[in-house]
Amino acid sequence: MTAQRACGVDDVSVSSAVMVELDGIAVAIVKDSAGDIHAIGDTCTHGEISLSEGFVEGDTIECWAHGSQFELRTGTPKNLPAFEPVPVFPVTIDGDDVLVDVQNPLIND
Ligand code: FES
Repeated sequence: MTAQRACGVDDVSVSSAVMVELDGIAVAIVKDSAGDIHAIGDTCTHGEISLSEGFVEGDTIECWAHGSQFELRTGTPKNLPAFEPVPVFPVTIDGDDVLVDVQNPLIND
């Protein structure tokens, strides 16, 4: 596993996802309503919109442009117009740090 620091645990909140670039890959660090932190591809598969600018609802994040909601655990869009998933990356919490391994996506590589 080649996890690297993405941000601090305190940097991300349900109302404020964080966009980071790791190895040239834009990643959205998102905290869901239950408090779990996820790392998904930041770019909406429907357009060049940053998902970290969207809205967290339960365990999904909604793209602000046209309303597709992506499941944070699977990267799958729950509704149109997006129909292709975003990648999901492994997250490790190490003390105050959020570590993400972008080289080994869990799904949707
Ligand atoms: S750009 Fe995200 S749903 Fe259209």
